Amino acid sequence: MCVVSPRSAFATPQPSASSSHARSSPLASANKVDPHALLKAEITHVRSSLLNLLGSSNPTLSDIASYYFHHPSKQLRPLLKHSRLSAEQLDAPLSRPDVLNDYNPSMPDHTASFQSPFDLRPPPMHTFPSPPPSLYAESAVSSAQLAHTLLPTQLRLAQIVEMIHVASLLHDDVIDKSDLRRGAPSAPAAFGNKLAVLGGDFLLGRSSAALARLGDNEAVELIASVIANLVEGEILQMKGTSARTNVDSSASSEVDLASLHAEPLHAESLMAKGARAAVVLGGCREGEVWKEVAYAYGRNVGIAFQLVDDILDFSSSTALGKPGSGTDLRLGIATGPVLYAAEEYPELEPLIARGFKHDGDVERVSI
Ligand code: FPP
Ligand code: MG
Repeated sequence: MCVVSPRSAFATPQPSASSSHARSSPLASANKVDPHALLKAEITHVRSSLLNLLGSSNPTLSDIASYYFHHPSKQLRPLLKHSRLSAEQLDAPLSRPDVLNDYNPSMPDHTASFQSPFDLRPPPMHTFPSPPPSLYAESAVSSAQLAHTLLPTQLRLAQIVEMIHVASLLHDDVIDKSDLRRGAPSAPAAFGNKLAVLGGDFLLGRSSAALARLGDNEAVELIASVIANLVEGEILQMKGTSARTNVDSSASSEVDLASLHAEPLHAESLMAKGARAAVVLGGCREGEVWKEVAYAYGRNVGIAFQLVDDILDFSSSTALGKPGSGTDLRLGIATGPVLYAAEEYPELEPLIARGFKHDGDVERVSI
């Protein structure tokens, strides 16, 4: 039995817009449910017990590491396995290369399907079992029953994913010189850059220990590779920015906009692999489709999340709780909305190429 619960860790608590959907399919009836109300108990548990993981003999470190958890936005018990692995086994990936090598710019975009890009033949039908009926039956969607579908390891996984996310935010706010986050002074503004970076490192250390305690090598591999993906994504973004700022504006029409579309989608890898790891912890058997379903689901939610975040960057900082008002543009970053706009308005290409450095560039693009 495979427990599918990729939903818990990543949902932003927001009002539900659920009840008006047509009831033409079992999935449509699931749409009636407010996921935040359903998962309130689990999310509360994830938040409250997470702070227990952040204690340190250095109280300042605990303060910084828990700082963003006091302004939460989005939001899995250890099983210890012992195994003797050979050197060859240690080098053998547990997940497919295309899953592990997320952010490989030459990787084909196969996320709409549940297939490896290395095997584009339709998978045999037996790998697509029917969804567990209880998850979709009208009578099944009560908190009490959902509680039975969430394993302690999955709850801890949600906490681990949140810790990694917050660690990346701590580092990101230093890199972006951002003074505001979640409507409050950012960690670098409140504690200084050095402590913000160290706080992020501390969170990564704690999340790594908690990950090891899950006792599932495939989940460990997936989540650890997310950390590498986040760093790669950030460097890609930095490279794109400096490449643009070093471009002579007169040659700007030759800028390869397609390469700029490689702008990393930060949220994507964490959500895709986090959702996949939740299904792995749920006991998904080899050959079942659920890992692929969870991966594609998380990835698509991550892409949607990032697109909305990029659009919100054009909003006022008061509404957003973080700098906004064209911050990405001012950093020279051409996000999705600008790149798509340039397809329709090619006159934006020189502005993108010079990283919006001329007077009036940011305002022109923000119209
Ligand atoms: C936010 O993007 C970016 C991230 C959350 C990822 C940043 C990744 C790193 C700094 C690499 C280091 C990673 C770890 C795990 C320590 P944004 O600036 O567009 O979003 P924002 O508007 O919320 O700041
Ligand atoms: Mg930022």
